[in-house]
Formats: sequence, structure tokens, C-alpha cells
Amino acid sequence: MTIDQPVSVAETREIWDAKARFWDERMGEGNAWHLTAVGPAAEELLAITPGDRVLDVGCGNGVLARRLAGLGAAVTATDFSQVFLDAARERSASLPYADRITWRLLDATDGAALRDLTAEPFDAIVTTMALQDMPEIGPLAAATPTLLRPGGRFVAVIPHPCFNTVDAVRVTETREVNGEMLTEVGIRISRYLTPLTSLGVGMRGEPRPHHYFERTVSAYLAPWLAAGMVLDGLQERPVRGPSRPGSLAPESDLPVILAFRFRRGTS
Ligand SMILES: C[S@@+](CC[C@H](N)C(=O)[O-])C[C@H]1O[C@@H](n2cnc3c(N)ncnc32)[C@H](O)[C@@H]1O
Repeated sequence: MTIDQPVSVAETREIWDAKARFWDERMGEGNAWHLTAVGPAAEELLAITPGDRVLDVGCGNGVLARRLAGLGAAVTATDFSQVFLDAARERSASLPYADRITWRLLDATDGAALRDLTAEPFDAIVTTMALQDMPEIGPLAAATPTLLRPGGRFVAVIPHPCFNTVDAVRVTETREVNGEMLTEVGIRISRYLTPLTSLGVGMRGEPRPHHYFERTVSAYLAPWLAAGMVLDGLQERPVRGPSRPGSLAPESDLPVILAFRFRRGTS
């Protein structure tokens, strides 16, 4: 459903609070998306060194924060949903490295709240599958250079803006090839340049859909370029895992996520 009116952060938070527990149960320590696309892209681009101080923005149930803490990072894991943070903390409590994760309520569209985090700069900032859920990404981009030490990196993983959008039509085609019936799922895209706000499905069966704020690739990158950050890493990945009717097949040649890394200059 396309939405023409501006959407407030309060509205988006109310929806995430309502489905955080469902999401946590389904995500656990990673679904196929996280284990085969989101997590590997984030970890490769972050290239964690033990002792790195990492800020996770929109951490959800903490699936990535736990992985990074397991690699030796000290993680400040933040989200604007207290329900998500409570679930994340409970899920992490028994880990031997639970004390390497600090959970903190943070609205990533709030520039003043972001600036409050700057007491000790981070080696890296990461945000996975969250920028598309925020009505504004400018405040986070503007705060990025001040939150990072010189040379620090900012890594984002988002649904691929070209191939994985709410209004992409999944097209299933069956044809005969060399005497065999072959079924392929592809996508048909008819909108890209016009930003779209709509309600979409994050996980099948979830209690409520949430808002997606869809932007072009250049609109995602522009705020970090304007903040003086240097783009030095890009990845596009498909999801691998069990095939489901109407979903892209595990062997699909289409990427479902785009991941990018920016670096702060060393001066
Ligand atoms: C699709 S989930 C992804 C969660 C997690 N990063 C992951 O990869 O599984 C999006 C997350 O962004 C959070 N979020 C959305 N808008 C936010 C905002 N303005 N500030 C902070 N977190 C936000 C939601 O509460 C939710 O946890």
C-alpha cells in the first residue's frame, strides 16, 4: 500500500514494538537471509579485529551484535524499540561474552541523540536491514564522521534497491526446455527513480506490516558522500536456502541485498 502522507518515527516505532517478539522468535540466531546474505556481507566489510568498538544501529534482536561480540568486538547495540532491546538482552544473557554488548535505546533519526554517543569514538558503525525502515537517514550520515575515529568504517546492508523492493512483482514462468518443464521465478520492476513509502511484509505471517522508505542507490549513498566519507566497499548478494513458492529460487542470479562501506579519512 502506497502512503502519501509523511510518516512519523512514533508510528514506525509502534509497529516495531508490536512485532518485535514475533521477529525475535523467527530470527533467532539468523534466518536464511541473515546467514547467507546479510551477516556474511556485514562481517566481510567490517573485518572485525578483536577489541574493535562497534556501534550497531537498529540492532533488532541482536543477531549481528552477538556475532560481532563473538569475534571479539565491544558492541554498543542500539534500537528505537525497547521491546526489541529486551528480547535481545534476554537472548544474549547466557553467552560467555554477554558483557561485551551494551544495549541502548536510540532513535537513529535523532541527530542530538546520536551526538550524545560521541564520548569515545567507534572503530566501526554497522546497520543491517534498517535504513529502509527509517523516514530519514540524513541525521545518521551527518553524525557518522563524528562518531568514528579517523580511518573508521561505516557499513550498511539494505534490501537491494533495484531488485528487492516492496512493489517488485514476482513473476513465475514455466516453459519447456529440452523436453523438461522448467519453472523460473523472476521479478518485474516498473518503479525505481521515484521514492516510495509503503507498508510491506518483513517476515511472512508477522502480526503487522511495517513502513518501507524506498530510495535509489544514489539517494542511499549521497548523505554519506555529503558528510565527507569515502566509499570503499560494495557487495551484492543473493539469498541461499530452501525454495518457497513465489520466492526467488536458491540458485537465482538476482541479488537481494546491497551492502556498502564508507571510510572516514585519516586526518
Ligand atoms: C528489519 S529489522 C533489522 C534488525 C537487525 N538489524 C537485523 O539485521 O536483523 C529493522 C530494525 O530497525 C529498527 N529501527 C527502525 N527504525 C529505527 C530508528 N528510527 N532508529 C533505530 N532503530 C530503528 C527496528 O526496530 C528493527 O529492529
